[in-house]
Amino acid sequence: MSVLLSPWENPPSTIKLARGEVQLWRFRIDLPTDVIAGLRPLLSRDEQLRAERLLDPLKSSNFVAARGRLRQILAGYLNLQPAAIEFSYGGQGKPCLTAKTAERLTFNLSHAGCWGLLIVASGFAVGVDLEKIDSQLEYEKLAGLVFSSAEVACLEQYACKRRRRAFYRIWTRKEAWLKGQGGGFSASAQMVQDAGWQIRSFSVDGGYLGALALAAEVTEVQRWHLH
Ligand SMILES: CC(C)(COP(=O)(O)OP(=O)(O)OC[C@H]1O[C@@H](n2cnc3c(N)ncnc32)[C@H](O)[C@@H]1OP(=O)(O)O)[C@@H](O)C(=O)NCCC(=O)NCCS
Repeated sequence: MSVLLSPWENPPSTIKLARGEVQLWRFRIDLPTDVIAGLRPLLSRDEQLRAERLLDPLKSSNFVAARGRLRQILAGYLNLQPAAIEFSYGGQGKPCLTAKTAERLTFNLSHAGCWGLLIVASGFAVGVDLEKIDSQLEYEKLAGLVFSSAEVACLEQYACKRRRRAFYRIWTRKEAWLKGQGGGFSASAQMVQDAGWQIRSFSVDGGYLGALALAAEVTEVQRWHLH
């Protein structure tokens, strides 16, 4: 049975997460300059340096917005100040909370266009991916490069007018699964078929597609929209 997703709702004033529960947050990252300026000091020194190194002002501002919101949301679970949260990084760069901050809380972040998504769980790995559907993308070429032959065959089963969305569906599902594992990203990764995981696609807004990857036993995901 496929995991049940709640509608996007306002989050409660007190955030709680029992073991086995999963919560998915949606927030905007195209924020006014003064809001970005207010989020910047929440970031650690290395995050601020990373934002400075991004020469494209939009990419830099999106990074600050996503990391700032990530810290604000996690602070609600951890009862900490956003700036006090410490991250460590896996071999392929997946951020997680340091054992000092929280042992069981896991999360994964994705951002594209004007939206960010954050999945939060307790006790198991999770992955999320978000893509803005690009009507100009030469997706068939890209599929040839990064999809397995089974994924290419799956794509070709769709009628032409539905194929672009199908490409993004396969892409985001694969990416969410790979991000859940936090491992390397390679074109040789096989079609997403893994008994330990379930993958769920969903719409984030017009023109945006998301996917999440989580433990097979999870039955429900609460979805919250942060204003
Ligand atoms: C990190 C990576 C996963 C970024 O993917 P993306 O779609 O460009 O970006 P997303 O917004 O979804 O994810 C970025 C976030 O994932 C997290 N992340 C970074 N490395 C990660 C990893 N190895 N595993 C899981 N999450 C990771 C970070 O929080 C990052 O956000 P940041 O800007 O705060 O650092 C990138 O390393 C990558 O390799 N993409 C490969 C794309 C590809 O070829 N896919 C083929 C399969 S379809």
